[in-house]
Amino acid sequence: MWSTSDDPWNHGGRWYEQRKYDLTVAVLPAARYRIALEPACGVGLLTVRLAERADAVMAFDAWPRAVAVATRRCRQFPHVSVEVGDIRSGPLPPATPADLVVLGEVLYYFDESRCREIATQWFDAIEPGGHLVAVHYRPSVAEHVIGGDAAHAVLRDALGPPIVAVSDPGFLLEVFERA
Ligand SMILES: C[S@@+](CC[C@H](N)C(=O)[O-])C[C@H]1O[C@@H](n2cnc3c(N)ncnc32)[C@H](O)[C@@H]1O
Repeated sequence: MWSTSDDPWNHGGRWYEQRKYDLTVAVLPAARYRIALEPACGVGLLTVRLAERADAVMAFDAWPRAVAVATRRCRQFPHVSVEVGDIRSGPLPPATPADLVVLGEVLYYFDESRCREIATQWFDAIEPGGHLVAVHYRPSVAEHVIGGDAAHAVLRDALGPPIVAVSDPGFLLEVFERA
């Protein structure tokens, strides 16, 4: 999809996305985070909002075109870095320990076993008291390997009950706290 557009999902123009990003930063329990990690950051629309809540934001995406667009979008924030990186590799030094991990619209690209592995890897990188926030579209989409509801069922099973849960007809948004 990245070969045809700088914003293949039209994340910048859809009210669904804007409202979801607003709610995602609104539910974050801490006013401020030290290091926020955002794998699969896409075009950086949530990254710029995280920039206002964290002293450092380290964002990654597997696709260079997404990284280029997100880098442009975040250029006014010197404390934000955007790099090419595969979520399946887990957080690499110096990205840890972080106090916030954001998994937005990405876990449904993997089967349940890989989804659990990714969630656990990134959750383990969070220091005690820190948070993992996940948000996923619920309706069925052809290119998704599992649904958004299934991805969140895996998260709850692997990480324990969320401390915040927003169930919208369009998406599930949950925050997990590291003990
Ligand atoms: C639907 S977009 C969501 C983007 C962003 N998280 C958001 O919510 O606006 C999914 C993103 O996951 C990225 N992605 C897919 N597989 C990935 C992987 N293995 N590692 C890192 N990023 C990946 C895609 O390139 C794409 O930018």
